[in-house]
Amino acid sequence: MAYGMLVAGLLSLAVAASSQNVAQRVSSNSVSGMPLFPSETLQLTDEALSRLAKDQRAWFEFGSNGSVSAARSLWPSENIWELFDWVLGTGSLIKTVPLATVCYPSEPDYDSAKCEEITDNWTNSYLHAADPASIMWPLFEGRTCLPTNQNVTADCTLGGYSSYAVNVSHVAQIQLAVNFARLANLRLVVKNTGHDFSGKSTGAGALGIWTHNLKEMEYYENYRGSGYQGPALKMGAGVQAFDVYAKARELGLTAIGGEGKTVGVAGGYVLGGGHSPMSSIYGLAADQVLALEVVLANGRFVTVTEETDPDLFWALCGGGGGTYGVVTSVISRLRPKVGVTLSKFSFATSPNVSADTFWAGIRSYMQRFPTYADAGTYAYFWVLPTGPGAFEFLMNPFFGVNHTLDEFNALVKPWFDDLKALGIPFTPNSTYFPDFYDAWAAGFPLETVASSTMLTGSRLFPRANWEDESKFNATFAALRSTITAGHPLLAFNMKVDLPEGSPENSANPAWRKTLMHAITSTTWNTTTPNAEIKQIMDTFTYDTLGQWRATCPDAGAYMSESDVLEPNFEQAFYGSNYDRLYKLKQRYDPTGLFYAVTAVGSENWQVKSLDGLPDQNGRLCRI
Ligand SMILES: Cc1cc2nc3c(=O)[nH]c(=O)nc-3n(C[C@H](O)[C@H](O)[C@H](O)COP(=O)(O)OP(=O)(O)OC[C@H]3O[C@@H](n4cnc5c(N)ncnc54)[C@H](O)[C@@H]3O)c2cc1C
Ligand SMILES: *[C@@H]1O[C@H](CO)[C@@H](O)[C@H](O)[C@H]1NC(C)=O
Ligand SMILES: *[C@@H]1O[C@H](CO)[C@@H](O)[C@H](O)[C@H]1NC(C)=O
Ligand SMILES: *[C@@H]1O[C@H](CO)[C@@H](O)[C@H](O)[C@H]1NC(C)=O
Ligand SMILES: *[C@@H]1O[C@H](CO)[C@@H](O)[C@H](O)[C@H]1NC(C)=O
Ligand SMILES: *[C@@H]1O[C@H](CO)[C@@H](O)[C@H](O)[C@H]1NC(C)=O
Ligand SMILES: *[C@@H]1O[C@H](CO)[C@@H](O)[C@H](O)[C@H]1NC(C)=O
Ligand SMILES: *[C@@H]1O[C@H](CO)[C@@H](O)[C@H](O)[C@H]1NC(C)=O
Ligand SMILES: *[C@@H]1O[C@H](CO)[C@@H](O)[C@H](O)[C@H]1NC(C)=O
Ligand SMILES: *[C@@H]1O[C@H](CO)[C@@H](O)[C@H](O)[C@H]1NC(C)=O
Repeated sequence: MAYGMLVAGLLSLAVAASSQNVAQRVSSNSVSGMPLFPSETLQLTDEALSRLAKDQRAWFEFGSNGSVSAARSLWPSENIWELFDWVLGTGSLIKTVPLATVCYPSEPDYDSAKCEEITDNWTNSYLHAADPASIMWPLFEGRTCLPTNQNVTADCTLGGYSSYAVNVSHVAQIQLAVNFARLANLRLVVKNTGHDFSGKSTGAGALGIWTHNLKEMEYYENYRGSGYQGPALKMGAGVQAFDVYAKARELGLTAIGGEGKTVGVAGGYVLGGGHSPMSSIYGLAADQVLALEVVLANGRFVTVTEETDPDLFWALCGGGGGTYGVVTSVISRLRPKVGVTLSKFSFATSPNVSADTFWAGIRSYMQRFPTYADAGTYAYFWVLPTGPGAFEFLMNPFFGVNHTLDEFNALVKPWFDDLKALGIPFTPNSTYFPDFYDAWAAGFPLETVASSTMLTGSRLFPRANWEDESKFNATFAALRSTITAGHPLLAFNMKVDLPEGSPENSANPAWRKTLMHAITSTTWNTTTPNAEIKQIMDTFTYDTLGQWRATCPDAGAYMSESDVLEPNFEQAFYGSNYDRLYKLKQRYDPTGLFYAVTAVGSENWQVKSLDGLPDQNGRLCRI
């Protein structure tokens, strides 16, 4: 396109009065059987596009199937960004500023009072979810612009944060952003809450689509579709666990969300699988999905159900966020109200409890994982190293789904009897709640986020490791060795069968065999040099987690709570589904517009990080 024509187009733009004139209000009919949300009826259509001058339109045209975007190499000029803001609805395009710039005297918006507030709230997930670009794992933005009490680089640049973010309030804005990124050859990221453990919601120089404000919810008492009939909830992409749980409580029903309060239930969580305190009974969050509304890489808005597009439905349900399109809403099954006995307790080594006695108590627990998962319960527990030969166990909590207090006490009696026989003092606080919501609210801590000195890794240990005593011993020995070497264990005991009536989906097949999702981490400190951090990471990925993998080489790991450096991530995170997922990626996103680290197709790309660490602060290049 001639540059002169563009400038001419901008002049005509300057006289146009209203913004949003490229969005068109469409009918709310959807083949999902439930009406579109108001935010979904404002769309970019061919007719709406035709209202733009030809040279303006050139930045926002829909893609045709298989067409490769014109390879532009120049960063759009200020004028073009203004044009983009104008078509979005002026003010929706946000030029990214890292939260902690207010802490840097060299920055124009330096403000010590605001800095204090940011610093105090830094580990609180609400702070980052409410920001257009901030993420909860600063490692992946390159640890730039941290609150100045935890200097790593002591500088404040944009690092791996996206450069611009669209504060989305309706679907046309997502379509415009997708088309603009494709045609301007920009990196594109989708950011919802920023919880992702691998930094999949950030990227240097990217245009971000920020879905956090898409908070609509609608209840349907008797949804029919995808072979299901019953209560369902339609959730906007920005809806979080606390929103959904409050809604379900009000309805007298149970929703499937994570344990984490602020996780984006209709975003990366459900798209990556999504385990839940209800998983041992109902499986994954992805297994609850009935329909999705999605903006594809070509900019088109589509409704995806088992009937309309079984391939894409299969891929979206568990194949990972930021890969096949931007989901604007999800309709999911709701489940009946259920009572829960919640139990919290801890025990530790002490002068009276030797390390061997402590581990015998842990072994007695772990041996019972098949029984507990088969009983429909879920447990979140920590085993922490607290000094040389010293350990602490925290049940944080045991979530006794559909168990009265008596039933719960009967379930755990054999283990508790063992602990007593071993002389391990512990005082369980077990309480029955007639409703999921109250048990969840009382049970799970608000996790602290935003550590910049830590890398996580995980494994889905299969039931087979319990069915053979020598395998069990090897598993137990591997975990004990990891913790004894100073790494914490944060693990979940659950089972995750595909529930009756749910179609097969692309969630990691390793989920269907697991009894334990175990997470551990490694740490360094703020002054550790990058080369040494890289060594610490490699030791962690290959030695520490290598010991875990050796006990179950054919199993996998949960992509959403994993090690970004997981070797052979295709097998580990996607298992036997990978080939089909990859083919579908080529069909729906042939130019690779949606890139996220460890996502399907990401092996064709490389981020040239500036510090040699696995972060998103460098250029994204096709390999
Ligand atoms: C404190 C904490 C607690 C957690 N608890 C649980 C838990 O109980 N169970 C569990 O299974 N997981 C849990 N997780 C992991 C969580 O599922 C993942 O971090 C997940 O990626 C979060 O999704 P999000 O949309 O909130 O985050 P984001 O980081 O914003 O997004 C994650 C990924 O999804 C993509 N994405 C987001 N929205 C969309 C969309 N609308 N369309 C397409 N792609 C999208 C992003 O591009 C990115 O690739 C927890 C994580 C943390 C940090
Ligand atoms: C793109 O074209 C191919 C081959 O013609 C077809 O199989 C595929 O379904 C098309 N994809 C979309 C999203 O239309
Ligand atoms: C910080 O936290 C306090 C209380 O927890 C809250 O009132 C305040 O709004 C938060 N500030 C930011 C910027 O999130
Ligand atoms: C962090 O860096 C800033 C800017 O260089 C400096 O003012 C501050 O004292 C440092 N803080 C710490 C804890 O090192
Ligand atoms: C984003 O848009 C919403 C309206 O949808 C508005 O309330 C909010 O203030 C905006 N946020 C920012 C950071 O601009
Ligand atoms: C250890 O056991 C002794 C004797 O039973 C008891 O008096 C003491 O309180 C115990 N100490 C702890 C820390 O439990
Ligand atoms: C709870 O358990 C009872 C049997 O004890 C069973 O009939 C009921 O279906 C279960 N409820 C749920 C929600 O699983
Ligand atoms: C026991 O748990 C209940 C429910 O979480 C809580 O209200 C109560 O304060 C706890 N009691 C003790 C002694 O910790
Ligand atoms: C497993 O470990 C237990 C306890 O250490 C031991 O008694 C048992 O013999 C071991 N079994 C096998 C098959 O190694
Ligand atoms: C920080 O890490 C370095 C290198 O790993 C180490 O030498 C130093 O002791 C650590 N400092 C602290 C306070 O942990």
